[in-house]
Amino acid sequence: MKDLSTSHLLGIKDLNQNDIEIIFNTADSFKEVINRPIKKVPTLRDVTIANLFFENSTRTKLSFELAQKRLSADIINFSAGSSSVKKGETLIDTANNILSMKVDMLVMRHPNSGAAKFLSEKTNTVIINAGDGTHEHPTQALLDTYSIREKLGNVEGRKVALIGDIKHSRVALSNIFALKKLGAQVMVCGPTTLIPKYINELGVLVENNLEKALKWCDVANMLRIQLERQDIQYFPSLREYTYQFQLNREILNKIQKPITILHPGPVNRGIEITSEIADSEHSLILNQVENGVAIRMAIIYLLAGSINRS
Ligand code: CP
Repeated sequence: MKDLSTSHLLGIKDLNQNDIEIIFNTADSFKEVINRPIKKVPTLRDVTIANLFFENSTRTKLSFELAQKRLSADIINFSAGSSSVKKGETLIDTANNILSMKVDMLVMRHPNSGAAKFLSEKTNTVIINAGDGTHEHPTQALLDTYSIREKLGNVEGRKVALIGDIKHSRVALSNIFALKKLGAQVMVCGPTTLIPKYINELGVLVENNLEKALKWCDVANMLRIQLERQDIQYFPSLREYTYQFQLNREILNKIQKPITILHPGPVNRGIEITSEIADSEHSLILNQVENGVAIRMAIIYLLAGSINRS
């Protein structure tokens, strides 16, 4: 087994290109496994993993759980809403109580940016970040770039536009890091108010016109407006946003070339993308979800080598 350069997955920023290639090659093997009639391997029979979700999730939570089951790990699931967090228990106390039950690895989604890194510094266990605030969502970026590689043959040299609410999107930041490490050209597109001020430091192109962004790109990754993270109003109305930034048949007809379409989900149908385009032959939305299981199996398997057995 080739080793990753890190013993946690806190963000794509911490990975190098070789790490990403090891993860992709390992995911290729696991994708083959999960397409067999018997989808399970005994690889992690002696490993116990806790999934800590302090924020809602469908895809990431279920995909991690399925990945762990496919690897034969023992798992426990924690949802903040039905836990003693509601009685005032802190994050670190929650984690330490779970770890004292002889848990080997924590997968955590948390609304605060930096929560996964904080836990990695305060505990002696392997941490996988399943999304922290507006910071990073590394497994999403890995499954997105893996899906581009699978569809187009490679990521290097591809032109990828991230379109929508860049400011509040952990998917956008992780995708920018992953795409650039793999040699893609990256553009962000959205209303000026939803493009963060630090964007120029990341070496990406910035465009406020959707038609121009679509003419430029090979792949469009459509991001939803994160209404739950907006402290002030960043655009006049959802109707106006939709008019300027919705991916629909009309605008795709204008650019007259096929584009590969990604969306991390959940999709707000009729806002950032129409149902017709989300469900079209050029959309990889469900392929992304399928690939999420293989990518998460690969990450868990590779990081299991860093479990402290003492
Ligand atoms: N893409 C994603 O993170 O979806 P969930 O919030 O449903 O996990």
